[in-house]
Amino acid sequence: AKEPVRVLVTGAAGQIGYALVPMIARGIMLGPDQPVILHMLDIPPAAEALNGVRMELIDAAFPLLKGVVATTDVVEACTGVNIAVMVGGFPRKEGMERKDVMSKNVSIYKSQASALENYAAANCKVLVVANPANTNALILKEFAPSIPEKNITCLTRLDHNRALGQISERLNVQVSDVKNVIIWGNHSSSQYPDVNHATVKTPAGEKPVRELVKDDAWLNGGFITTVQQRGAAIIKARKLSSALSAASSACDHIRDWVLGTPEGTWVSMGVYSDGSYNVPAGLIYSFPVTCSGGEWKIVQGLPIDELSRKKMDLTAEELSEEKALAYSCLS
Ligand code: NAI
Repeated sequence: AKEPVRVLVTGAAGQIGYALVPMIARGIMLGPDQPVILHMLDIPPAAEALNGVRMELIDAAFPLLKGVVATTDVVEACTGVNIAVMVGGFPRKEGMERKDVMSKNVSIYKSQASALENYAAANCKVLVVANPANTNALILKEFAPSIPEKNITCLTRLDHNRALGQISERLNVQVSDVKNVIIWGNHSSSQYPDVNHATVKTPAGEKPVRELVKDDAWLNGGFITTVQQRGAAIIKARKLSSALSAASSACDHIRDWVLGTPEGTWVSMGVYSDGSYNVPAGLIYSFPVTCSGGEWKIVQGLPIDELSRKKMDLTAEELSEEKALAYSCLS
């Protein structure tokens, strides 16, 4: 039998946490033959709710779940974890300045970085979900210098999946037959959802999305804004932000990273830029990646047209500004 993998979920008493932990315990994240031990962290005001989640995990009698650690102690939470899904953070509240929210999250991610660096298992893989996801991941990377930078990522898979969903709805095809959309940049409304390389499996073979949709106005307009604004649309409808889709996409992100992407398919991940596609190095930026042997690699050599270039640069600029704001909170 396989050794259990320890998976940390921070902010586990929150709404994404509530959707995510049962998926992990059922094997959605790491596969149906991989036992897991869940580590759940939240803050003291949420301790009672966190304990309720722990009780429900026991009550669900998941065969793969070999243990649960539910704690408000960051060291206990991080000790020995192989995978860390960082969902906890400080949300923007009405009337708050961006700088104040940034400053709260910078201090959270700085201290959680140190705990991971000192107590997590060697080669721990980190996925930051909490917003501002890219910049929180960057702060985590800066303050956990012994964790390899390739192990620190942020979630843009939800945006990627939203883009697949829009194409599938538009063409009335199975979502599993659509692939190779790209989310470039920030997990924010400045992101660039790019369909220029996306294809659909048809009875006559793989066809480019652009050839099938035949509506450039929509592909260059409504499609992009729908994906960019989808988070806000969900909040408007649910009065709460995306949770089941965020949780499911976090599982997709880790599963593909650990178990690999299918041949000929890429996915979007926020990773530390090495300057590929002339994206400034040193930002956590969403790129198309393939994964194999537990490592991601940026897909190279895709032709970039002028419209795409502009949109990729715009979202990079926003990330550079966020980075500067985050650093100003440190001093
Ligand atoms: P929520 O407010 O329901 O839950 C957040 C939880 O984090 C709360 O239980 C809170 O007590 C906890 N928390 C706060 N500070 C903490 C700390 N220092 N350590 C540990 N836990 C802490 O929020 P929800 O809806 O679960 O969303 C979580 C985050 O995910 C938000 O930042 C949200 O903006 C972000 N998000 C990101 C998405 C993405 O695609 N990257 C998609 C959807 C949401």
